[in-house]
Amino acid sequence: MGRVVVLGSLNVDLVTEVDRHPRPGETVLAVGPLVRLAGGKGGNQAVAAAEAGAGVAMVACVGDDADGRRYLARLRARGIDTAGVRVVAGESTGQAWVAVDGEGENAIVVVPGANAHVTAGDLGPLDGLRPGDVLLVQLEVPLRVVAEAARRAQSRGARVVVNAAPYAALPHDVAALADPVVVNEHEALALADSGSVPRSLLVTFGGEGCSWDGVEFPGAPVEAPHVVDTTGAGDAFCGALAAALAEGHGRAEAVRRATEAGAAAVRRQGAQADPSL
Ligand code: RIB
Repeated sequence: MGRVVVLGSLNVDLVTEVDRHPRPGETVLAVGPLVRLAGGKGGNQAVAAAEAGAGVAMVACVGDDADGRRYLARLRARGIDTAGVRVVAGESTGQAWVAVDGEGENAIVVVPGANAHVTAGDLGPLDGLRPGDVLLVQLEVPLRVVAEAARRAQSRGARVVVNAAPYAALPHDVAALADPVVVNEHEALALADSGSVPRSLLVTFGGEGCSWDGVEFPGAPVEAPHVVDTTGAGDAFCGALAAALAEGHGRAEAVRRATEAGAAAVRRQGAQADPSL
């Protein structure tokens, strides 16, 4: 059974509820309190992979603040190896401003903070990657570092899963080595326009399922009254997918597990199970 190494962001999510999202130039009043929850696509995916039973190591940066210390303790309490998480002096831990509307749909603004300080010098933990291991990345840390990590992981025989979110055009060689590139339907359109040709492409359609290299897999639709918060559903999907692939499962079983994890995520508040920070 392989390990999962996650390179990515760690954010404190500042979450509130709105009846509807504001239009540009508009102010709306929140209809719920402001809560602080663990988030960041990297952290969310690492926690999801650990929950799915994988041995997980995190490569990331936090600020030298109470948020960073709390987040590190949280990851360690879940058995995640944090030796690759660097504390950046004089910087704040990343934050995300999250508004969730009555349908459970979110709008998010990320303030990168320490996430922007991740460099190629932080990639030491990738030296231990072996065939059977999975490197899981997203795009909330600098793209050049993500690209370097993907190349290094591939050179060590590990599988590379790239969640191209938030969307940015991938270097062509990174798109070509990832197995798979995971995108939602909106990101898929941008990817198609970019000219990059992924070797393997997994497109998610929320509760409607997903398509992996043209093969369709059923979803696990959640009825409207049970959709509490869609924040982090894609991350739960990616983390569980990476865990299943590292466990040696094929596409059908890996997608089945990922789909279940994504469906479970929309039924709860926050981007992680028990997200209090
Ligand atoms: O994918 C959801 C995540 O996006 C949130 O947890 C927020 O921190 C942003 O990174």
